[in-house]
Amino acid sequence: MAEYFSRDWLALREPADHAARPESLLGPLNDALAECATPLQIVDLGSGAGSNLRYLAPRLVGPQHWTLMDHDADLLAMIAEPDGAVTIARQVTDFSAGPPPIPHDTSLVTASALLDLVSADWLDRLVTMLTQWPVPVLLALSYDGRIEWSHPHPADEHVRTAVNCHQRTDKGFGPALGPDAADYCAHAFADKGCRVMIETSDWQLGADQAVLAAALIGGWAEAAAEMEPQARPMYQEWASSRRRDIADGQLHLSVGHCDMLVLGKH
Ligand SMILES: C[S@@+](CC[C@H](N)C(=O)[O-])C[C@H]1O[C@@H](n2cnc3c(N)ncnc32)[C@H](O)[C@@H]1O
Repeated sequence: MAEYFSRDWLALREPADHAARPESLLGPLNDALAECATPLQIVDLGSGAGSNLRYLAPRLVGPQHWTLMDHDADLLAMIAEPDGAVTIARQVTDFSAGPPPIPHDTSLVTASALLDLVSADWLDRLVTMLTQWPVPVLLALSYDGRIEWSHPHPADEHVRTAVNCHQRTDKGFGPALGPDAADYCAHAFADKGCRVMIETSDWQLGADQAVLAAALIGGWAEAAAEMEPQARPMYQEWASSRRRDIADGQLHLSVGHCDMLVLGKH
């Protein structure tokens, strides 16, 4: 079943995504790109409404041309033309049959919040393709299965387990790697002789992110109930309780993600 994401959800998560991304991978990435011809040719897989472009383009050195790929033409159409030395092309492409072909003059392949949707087979094919020439790869904001609350609720671990089961269901690419995606991907690239750097990019949600936190809680309760329909009332009670905690403004929630930079064999 193909996955579509609402513009409202992507807009809601964008500030948390950008705040979470580690600056420490940018130095090695810009060093690796310094040798490339300009404008840098950047391919963004699963661009959605352009969050990765808005985060990364101002942090890369030099003129850039971004090819933004997604199966959702409406999301791609929302992306505003950047100012200055960055140009974009939108490409409506469905990846469900396999990773799209990547031109060999590409300087960087990147994606954000995509990796946990794909299957092991799909990822193996991407890794095989991207290790045929030494192209850097930056895969941001892969959910890694950790959900941590400042104040515990007895059902938290039950919810987390059910949510992580749901994350492994088919998202249009075969059984999704979900929380295992980054680990699987890191090993796959390392096995091909690549250098892999990983940093955490956890969402840190406090009172200032109450709307995002409330949306997550609702989504998690629904996903958990899909996995375990007989426990729906328990998940709904948990969600009501957690929404009250959020409304009280005392709760802090951390959602585990990681960013990965892969530097190809030279
Ligand atoms: C979680 S969103 C992330 C969007 C964006 N990268 C961001 O960080 O906001 C995942 C994106 O993958 C795209 N996607 C999902 N399945 C796809 C498929 N089979 N082919 C192409 N794009 C797909 C969705 O349309 C969506 O834009």
